[in-house]
Amino acid sequence: MSLKLAITGKGGVGKSTLAGTLARLMAADGRRVLAIDADPDANLASALGLPEELRRTVHTISEERQLIEERTGAKAREFGQVFRLNPDVSGIAEQYGTAFEGTHLLVLGAAQQAGGGCACPEAVLLKALVRHLVLQRDEVVILDMEAGIEHLGRGTAMGVDLILAVVEPGQRSVETAHRIQTMARSLGIQRFAVVLNKSVSAEDRRWMAEEFGAESLLGIIPFDRRIAEADRRAVSLIDLGSEDLLLPFRQIQQILQQQFEKVEGGLR
Ligand SMILES: Nc1ncnc2c1ncn2[C@@H]1O[C@H](COP(=O)(O)OP(=O)(O)O)[C@@H](O)[C@H]1O
Ligand SMILES: [Mg+2]
Repeated sequence: MSLKLAITGKGGVGKSTLAGTLARLMAADGRRVLAIDADPDANLASALGLPEELRRTVHTISEERQLIEERTGAKAREFGQVFRLNPDVSGIAEQYGTAFEGTHLLVLGAAQQAGGGCACPEAVLLKALVRHLVLQRDEVVILDMEAGIEHLGRGTAMGVDLILAVVEPGQRSVETAHRIQTMARSLGIQRFAVVLNKSVSAEDRRWMAEEFGAESLLGIIPFDRRIAEADRRAVSLIDLGSEDLLLPFRQIQQILQQQFEKVEGGLR
């Protein structure tokens, strides 16, 4: 069974909260889940609820100089070198990922991008790795991304089942989501949906339905102080033990599994 989900949106809207909670819920449901932290401002580990001792052992791929050198044939963080544009990325997720409660976390880290479209070895390695994981894995893959999908590349973006933009009731996050939607369209991707997070009123629900169309509004998560509190304590929402808090996340999980999960032999 496979489901490839890219979660994006403006910083602070709740991408990692959604990505981490969905990953844990799907894993608890018996699915193999690969959770990829593709946001340079990485915080998926704590949203997944990894205890601090385990978080300290998590690898960040962009900082693994030896790995980068081995696979690309060039030194990390240096421009103007000759290196492999199609590095072998097999085994990296297994070796550098961290297993936790049925999920497998992989943290990509930040890659330096040179101007003029040329890239450093770690950027090429990360891109090839994400492409491989999205296109080859037969499992649930959840990408926790920064705002935007341009760094995915067209081939990888096409392999994603759904681009999910998280918005909060504010003009700025809505603008970011519109920009992402336009980008998705220009890449030829129609599967775009929005989750409204931190919702406080029926009015903001109406507003989002107007902005993106009711059919694109995949889920609504109310503002809840317990979610921010969980973040302060670095525990996952699933470990809080408040079933009412999880309900909107379970609804989103259900829709995703019903509408986008592929079973052997094609679409469900
Ligand atoms: N529904 C919510 N209600 C209250 N606080 C929330 C909610 N969703 C997220 N938060 C809080 O907002 C902050 C940003 O969330 P986070 O998931 O880290 O965002 P992102 O990954 O998009 O930057 C965190 O402190 C988180 O606990
Ligand atoms: Mg985040």
